[in-house]
Amino acid sequence: MLSVADIRERLSEIRLLGTDVDIVQAGYVQRIGWDGSRVEVDVVLPPVSPQARHVLEQDIRRGLAAFAEIQQVQLRIGGGDQAKDQDGQLLLPGVRHVIAVASAKGGVGKSTVAANLALALQAEGLRVGLLDADVYGPSLPILFGTRGPVTVTPAQRLAPVEKFGLQLMSVGFFVEEETPVIWRGPVVMSLVRQFLRDVEWHGLDFLVVDLPPGTGDAPLSLLQLIPVTGALVVSTPQRVAIADVERGIAMFQRVRAPVLGIVENMAVYECPYCHTVDELFGSEGGQRLEKRFGIPVLARIPLDPQLRAASDSGQPLLIYAPDHPAVLTFRNLARQLLECLAATDVVDAPAPTIVN
Ligand SMILES: Nc1ncnc2c1ncn2[C@@H]1O[C@H](COP(=O)(O)OP(=O)(O)OP(=O)(O)O)[C@@H](O)[C@H]1O
Ligand SMILES: [Mg+2]
Repeated sequence: MLSVADIRERLSEIRLLGTDVDIVQAGYVQRIGWDGSRVEVDVVLPPVSPQARHVLEQDIRRGLAAFAEIQQVQLRIGGGDQAKDQDGQLLLPGVRHVIAVASAKGGVGKSTVAANLALALQAEGLRVGLLDADVYGPSLPILFGTRGPVTVTPAQRLAPVEKFGLQLMSVGFFVEEETPVIWRGPVVMSLVRQFLRDVEWHGLDFLVVDLPPGTGDAPLSLLQLIPVTGALVVSTPQRVAIADVERGIAMFQRVRAPVLGIVENMAVYECPYCHTVDELFGSEGGQRLEKRFGIPVLARIPLDPQLRAASDSGQPLLIYAPDHPAVLTFRNLARQLLECLAATDVVDAPAPTIVN
């Protein structure tokens, strides 16, 4: 016969995202009620990201589903609020949702995608910011043709640089153009931490974060700090890149950030003279990934000299050539992303109390 102690034991196998203590030991489970068929669990959380709350709810339901005796689950999750740093400072104040853009390899167009996606989300009527978290190779100053300066607000916080309606922040605003950035790991982390809590974003619906390339320590330690709503993995469609995408997806799985889709960059080439469209590397790559991970390819961006010219001119394509066909691809990407988030209930997440 199943007892409250059994249920408590099962719950004690569950951890809150990003922490090492189980939810029972941490004192988050306030009450367990059990009448032989129906279980009631009341949980009160410290401030966490909406995603951490969502994952926890799933974990608890999955954990309880293992007991055949349980006919009905009433789960109440209270508390929560927003993610804070260890010392209680609010992380990313003024930001509702974070979209992380990653790639397992450098130079695949991650920054290009992040910049144009940010503008495409803005075109949907949303307030959007872009954080260049690539501390070693910041590209936002070049992509947007601005070097700031970053000003300090009356509250002693960093004001984002405004360009084309977006709020921008990059480590590139703080260093000379040709200075190689050779900071050591801890310095980088404290700098990024400062970005996460000391930038005064103004009421953003979305913050797009351009992560450092790769799946190593740099992006991973960032992901452990940032409450990511959803992630995109950018790749080129060569066969060899498939393994890269797998590593990218695995990285997000480690921090349990939902990967919403894959963006294939430099996927097709349209001949400027005869307008023949050439699948540079075939289209099977994306399909194989969709099958294997169940993660859709949300956009296939063409290899197009205009995209490079746009970046070099200090204007992302959406500003540089608004009538270019790839602009539609970016706008569709933004719309699909919003649909994915609405479907997973992350946007306009339900009230804290979840009753079944
Ligand atoms: N679809 C495309 N067609 C043509 N050129 C492109 C395309 N996408 C990106 N580029 C160009 O390729 C170069 C690399 O792109 P980008 O800087 O966006 O890559 P990244 O993945 O952010 O690189 P890094 O790892 O260095 O941060 C840039 O010069 C950019 O203009
Ligand atoms: Mg980049």
